[in-house]
Amino acid sequence: MRFPPGHLVSSGCLLAEASHQRQSACLKFPASMRTPVAAKPRIALIIGSTRPSRFADTPAQWMLKQAQARDDMDVELIDLRDHPLPFFDEVSSNLYVPSQNPEAIRWQQKVGQYDGYIFVVAEYNHSITGVLKNALDQAYNEWVRKPFTAIAYGGTGGARALEHLRGIGIELQMVSTKSAVHIGGGDFFSIHPFMGNQPIETIEANLTASATAALDELAWWAKATMAAR
Ligand SMILES: Cc1cc2nc3c(=O)[nH]c(=O)nc-3n(C[C@H](O)[C@H](O)[C@H](O)COP(=O)(O)O)c2cc1C
Repeated sequence: MRFPPGHLVSSGCLLAEASHQRQSACLKFPASMRTPVAAKPRIALIIGSTRPSRFADTPAQWMLKQAQARDDMDVELIDLRDHPLPFFDEVSSNLYVPSQNPEAIRWQQKVGQYDGYIFVVAEYNHSITGVLKNALDQAYNEWVRKPFTAIAYGGTGGARALEHLRGIGIELQMVSTKSAVHIGGGDFFSIHPFMGNQPIETIEANLTASATAALDELAWWAKATMAAR
């Protein structure tokens, strides 16, 4: 019996980079003892705004803290500022033709390391930021059959932008969670630096239930799609 890479079996045999020898050792155990236990999903929290005066760091750091407090996922932050991608100028999506631009290749290698994603979604004119759309376009194969959730913000909690992101995700063969964190209305205005400038902790009670639901769903889908891939 073979298990997907990155899985453990109850005997403690790690099959991620298993040699034939180690696989054989695992196979000595009867099937009843070979209960697969999924490795923890690796999740990237991707900040979708790069402008110097962005607000994004506040929701990003809060969501990172919620995710890192859990024991069912390993979460890392990816800042698009660290990935100065050109506007898409490849001959095709990397679904069809390998990319040429070194930054695009570095980006694909980076996002390909993860089993799921948390997008930090600013709403620009009722959609996601141009920089996030470009970053999504600059990979394809690396997103496929992986889940995502989001923390979105804006006057209407970034709901319109997140719905656009979900539509993009369908084309990328991704799975969106139903739940997400939305910081909107008075909550958004009270913590935005241009308005109330209060710490995010002042509205935390309004966010935690949706954060828990979003991360629970993300963990479920990440494990399911890891096993299926
Ligand atoms: C170009 C632009 C378009 C915007 N459009 C919207 C919008 O459609 N809906 C909304 O709620 N907020 C909108 N805003 C306000 C943003 O929600 C607010 O500026 C937020 O701080 C943007 O996220 P960021 O600071 O992380 O980039 C817009 C802001 C900019 C700069």
